[in-house]
Amino acid sequence: MDRSGVSQRLAEAGQAHLLQFWDVLSPEEQKELHRDLKEMDFKEINGFFKSAMEISSSSKHEKMDTRMEPVPRDVLGSVTRDRDSVRDWEDAGLLCISQNKVAALLLAGGQGTRLGVSYPKGMYDVGLPSHKTLFQIQAERILKLQDLAEKKHKTKCCIPWYIMTSGRTMDSTEEFFSNHNYFGLDKEKVVFFQQGMLPAMDYNGKIILESKSKLSMAPDGNGGLYRALERQKILQKMQQRGIECIHVYCVDNILVKVADPAFIGFCVQKRADCGAKVVEKTNPTEAVGVVCKVDGHYQVVEYSEITLATAEKRSSDGRLAFNAGNVANHFFSFSFLKDIVQKYEPQLQHHVAQKKIPYVNETGAVIKPDKPNGIKMEKFVFDIFQFANTFVVYEVLREDEFSPLKNADSQESKDTPTTARHALMSLHHRWVLNAGGHFIDENGRHVPAIPRDDEAGSVALDVNRNLKDGTDLPIKCEISPLVSYGGEGLEDLVKGKEFHPTLTIDESGVHQLVKNGV
Ligand code: UTP
Repeated sequence: MDRSGVSQRLAEAGQAHLLQFWDVLSPEEQKELHRDLKEMDFKEINGFFKSAMEISSSSKHEKMDTRMEPVPRDVLGSVTRDRDSVRDWEDAGLLCISQNKVAALLLAGGQGTRLGVSYPKGMYDVGLPSHKTLFQIQAERILKLQDLAEKKHKTKCCIPWYIMTSGRTMDSTEEFFSNHNYFGLDKEKVVFFQQGMLPAMDYNGKIILESKSKLSMAPDGNGGLYRALERQKILQKMQQRGIECIHVYCVDNILVKVADPAFIGFCVQKRADCGAKVVEKTNPTEAVGVVCKVDGHYQVVEYSEITLATAEKRSSDGRLAFNAGNVANHFFSFSFLKDIVQKYEPQLQHHVAQKKIPYVNETGAVIKPDKPNGIKMEKFVFDIFQFANTFVVYEVLREDEFSPLKNADSQESKDTPTTARHALMSLHHRWVLNAGGHFIDENGRHVPAIPRDDEAGSVALDVNRNLKDGTDLPIKCEISPLVSYGGEGLEDLVKGKEFHPTLTIDESGVHQLVKNGV
């Protein structure tokens, strides 16, 4: 073990403190620490720290307001405002899928700190009647979509699934898929790869030790995707398969339409190299990033980067002027992704997240700070919008497509297992209503569904109305993705029928679980 080589590199980089406990470590711990340090490029890490801190301090003072423009209508597709085109887009997307040109790419390398479980978020069961995990729901949506494309175009097809994990989630994710037989997907078409990790640093740029022999490491953000694609030669695999369109999305959105054919078809018809799915931001102070143009280039601007006056600005139609809420759900053409990975990735800057990072003090005791004591550095997946030649935005309804799982029920009331479960069941309730089914309560009365004032004039029913104040529960209703991808194909099963909740519909049929039995 060449300790002196590592010591010298550490000293040169101002990180010599990482060996301060060397003499009290066991030979095994010494070996592990040496291995971790040997693999690290301290010069590069110090450089990341310096530029991330510089950008972070300059952006604190500068507001974006005067440089921003909303998304122009000609690059915008909307499921409500362009209702007549959605079917065409969906057909175009299904055609691409049937030609094996579409891949799904899942960002699942996060630590899920706020949710607070020790296993990957995709393995979480939010408590649906079926107890399916997020991974299973997504896998089944892929299976159903393949089936829809195959039936329409009478040809076998496959949507390969690329799953980005990190050092912390890789083994358990792979094991979970293997134990569940890849949820019926072709094992060869599920490709796991690992993103990079970076050390947490204190405000002086010193790497933090989480124990005497271990550096505090965290994944390098979901924008670590691009470096990981290059290092793990994933693009080559995509190219060999003839992939032309990639749908990138986050693991935590229970409503995500994986490889959404309408979104893909819209982007393809617009000849876009990059597309962002958005939901309408309706509350000016909601802490969501908005997609807009800054100095003529697309990017996501965070709520903290603009003044309240700009956040509150409205267009002539009454909507917020900056209303394209980013949900980290993107389309990339293969050639664009290749350019990003091969040319532009080094230009992406790390963002700084101030965190409470457990550390060892000089006596070797582990301290859990109660206020932020250092930073983690992360790149963001959407930082590449600026490089797109043809960028488009696709607006969908939040209640149909976006309900992320971020927090534990015990900690928050927003974005929790409960809100995710309710969002899915509310959507499925609406699917049943739209397909002509009804629900009756324990007194034999129709459960009222109040038509919502929807500007597109669709049969939208405000089944969420009771959820806002948390005083009532949604109808318990779950439809397997293997039966319906987006609400289609349910008429034969539900039209003209009355159901008692809990209603579940799966490949084996329609089931009603009433109190005191089935
Ligand atoms: P979040 O930023 O919400 O982070 O990730 P998280 O890890 O899920 O949760 P917290 O912040 O620790 O509580 C949004 C998406 O980006 C992925 C996550 O897995 C999630 O799908 N992600 C995040 C990565 O793939 N890699 C990362 O380094 C960070």
